Amino acid sequence: MSFCVAIDGPAAAGKGTIARAVAAHFGFAHLDSGLLYRAVGRRALQGENPLEAARSLRPEELDDPVLRTPEVAEAASRVAAMPEVRKALTDFQRAFARRAGGAVLDGRDIGTVICPEAEVKLFVTASDEVRARRRHAELLERGIEAEFEDVLADLRARDARDRERAVAPLAKADDALLLDTTELSIEAAVNEAIRAVERRYGQGRV
Ligand code: DC
Repeated sequence: MSFCVAIDGPAAAGKGTIARAVAAHFGFAHLDSGLLYRAVGRRALQGENPLEAARSLRPEELDDPVLRTPEVAEAASRVAAMPEVRKALTDFQRAFARRAGGAVLDGRDIGTVICPEAEVKLFVTASDEVRARRRHAELLERGIEAEFEDVLADLRARDARDRERAVAPLAKADDALLLDTTELSIEAAVNEAIRAVERRYGQGRV
C-alpha cells in the first residue's frame, strides 16, 4: 500500500527539515524534488541543454554538495519554469510518490500537480526575513560568504519566479494544511507535521 505526504512551500521555509523528520518518524522514503531541478540547473550552467539534462539525470548526481550553492539554486529556478523540463521529471516523482511503504516529497508543486491525491498535504511557509536569515546562517556555516541583503533579494526573486511561472507555479493546494514556521521552533513545526500525518495515517500500515 502507498501513502504520500506532499510538502510544498517557498525556499528556506523548513520543508526539507520537516520532510526528513516525518520520513524518519514513519519509516517513509523521502525525495527532495528541488534536487532534481538543481541537478538540471547545474548541467545547464555547464552549457548542456536543460531538457536533455532532465531526460538523462542519474541518481548519483543528486548527492553532489555543489547543488546546494546559490548559483545552482538560481539556475534550478530558471530551468524549472520550462514546461518540457518539468514534464521530463514528472514520471519519476509520481512513481516515487506511489512507492510501496510510504513516501514524503517536498517541493513546489507536489500537492497540486505531482500528487494531487496525496493523503496528507502541508504548505510550509515563513516570513521573507526569517527565511533569508536561516538561509544566510546555513550558507555561512558551509563556508559560503554572503551578505544578508543579497540572500534576501535572491530569495525574493526566486520565489517570485517560482510563483509567477505559467506551469505548476508554487501554490498552496486548497486542501493543504498551512504551517507557518516564522515563530515556530523546528521541533514544534516537526511535531505539528507529524500530528497531521498521524491524524490521517492513524494506526494503519502501509
Ligand atoms: O527546494 P529548492 O530550493 O531546492 O528548489 C530549487 C528550485 O527548483 C526552486 O527555486 C524551484 C524549483 N522547484 C520546482 O519548481 N518544483 C519543485 N517541486 C521543486 C523545486
